[in-house]
Amino acid sequence: MTNIHAIILAAGKGTRMNSAKPKVLQTLANNTLLGHVLKQAKLISQHIHVVYGFGGDQVKQSINDNTIHWVEQVKQLGTGHAVQQATPHIEDDSMSLILYGDVPLIQHTTLEQLINAGTTSGVALLSVNLKNPTGYGRIIRQNNAIQAIVEQKDASDKQLKICEVNTGIMAVQTKLLKQYLSGLDANNAQGELYLTDIIKSAVDDGKAIASVITTDEFEVAGVNDKTQLAELERIYQHQQAVKYMQQGLSLKDPSRFDCRGALTFGQDCEIDFNTLIEGVVTLGNNTTIAPNCCIKNAKIGDNVTILANSVIEDAVIGTGASIGPFARIRPQANIGKHAKIGNFVEVKKSTIGTGSKVSHLSYVGDSIVGKEVNIGAGVITCNYDGINKHQTIIGDGAFIGSDSQLVAPVTIGKNATIGAGSTITSNAPEGQLTLSRSKQRPFPNWKRPVKQ
Ligand code: UD1
Ligand code: CA
Repeated sequence: MTNIHAIILAAGKGTRMNSAKPKVLQTLANNTLLGHVLKQAKLISQHIHVVYGFGGDQVKQSINDNTIHWVEQVKQLGTGHAVQQATPHIEDDSMSLILYGDVPLIQHTTLEQLINAGTTSGVALLSVNLKNPTGYGRIIRQNNAIQAIVEQKDASDKQLKICEVNTGIMAVQTKLLKQYLSGLDANNAQGELYLTDIIKSAVDDGKAIASVITTDEFEVAGVNDKTQLAELERIYQHQQAVKYMQQGLSLKDPSRFDCRGALTFGQDCEIDFNTLIEGVVTLGNNTTIAPNCCIKNAKIGDNVTILANSVIEDAVIGTGASIGPFARIRPQANIGKHAKIGNFVEVKKSTIGTGSKVSHLSYVGDSIVGKEVNIGAGVITCNYDGINKHQTIIGDGAFIGSDSQLVAPVTIGKNATIGAGSTITSNAPEGQLTLSRSKQRPFPNWKRPVKQ
């Protein structure tokens, strides 16, 4: 097959977004609109040309991809003019696929179909039938063959009744595209160079326009404002949820599941409502996630139970571990097999060994915790002296009594016991009880103050 060049039109400002950001940098599932289109373009083509205009530097910096050929359109003189900026950089003997930076949900199979159609016919057009075609270019057919596209503002009353509309997406042999683009003029209601006019030129040139009609109006929907952005976000999330459920994931409520990244999972995993997945998250087999959890960039093993309202980021959770409810697992936490991290526990940059328990109200930071350790309620590793962070090491089998503070750097020996309420400022020996609290005594003569 000939080379395919993707031309992505992304010069528009997107005034209706009411944003300082160019439209194509608005995000859908944490990826820019342009990023979504680029992803599809790259599946099909190794030559990507992006026509940019408004906010160009911001677009280039944000996308930060040096495999892209950026083409500036200084003045926006129409879609035909936009494509004219890119074609001089494309060899005649290739296929040009025209895409839009603000049409993010375009599907791979549709593009393949369109390219196949364009390869045989020279010009292939993607259209869609809409209940309300207002605003779009109408497809004019005669004996079923496409004759032309007429823009809303140029259409007659009769043409305005046509419900088959131009999506803008087309595949055209580059040599023909250049030829037809060179014949464009701005004699139309908007005084622009319309890309759509190449269809009539092709017909006049004796070409039969190949037609691909999608039945999925969302894959060709453009985003012009925040309402449409939110609408497509839900469509995208629904599509993902369906895909994951077909792969065996149980979602208690697919309408309350959001994945803004990539999720992979083993068998019999179950996710309850209001879960947010971001970045790259993997789940083993039989892992369950209770309501209201946020999980970002995490590797979670088999048989893990994540209880409600837990937040996990950049962490590894071992097989059989239990997390939450209300746990916060922060970056570089590595929770061992069968470990338990309970409610209101924060773990940061720490390893928790196999079978260890931090069940209630604790902060464990910059620590290495061995196996089968029990960390009592309210224990704090005091890792920060105001300037530097220091490490706490807790040996296997140690027991840290409730409400103790371990002032780092400090090491607690294997099987050591720390009495409740201790402030440990130097290393505690293996196998022994260490206490730092003062001895309890009554004060027999003490009286409560009386009100003056
Ligand atoms: C265009 C089509 C119309 C189609 C509709 C689908 C033309 C003349 N009309 O109309 O038939 O139904 O899309 O949404 O093509 N752009 C540039 N540079 C320009 C002009 C536009 O990069 O000079 C980009 C815009 O950023 C946008 C896309 O091209 O992403 C479409 O432009 P827009 O002005 O929205 O075209 P429509 O009038 O909607
Ligand atoms: Ca548009």
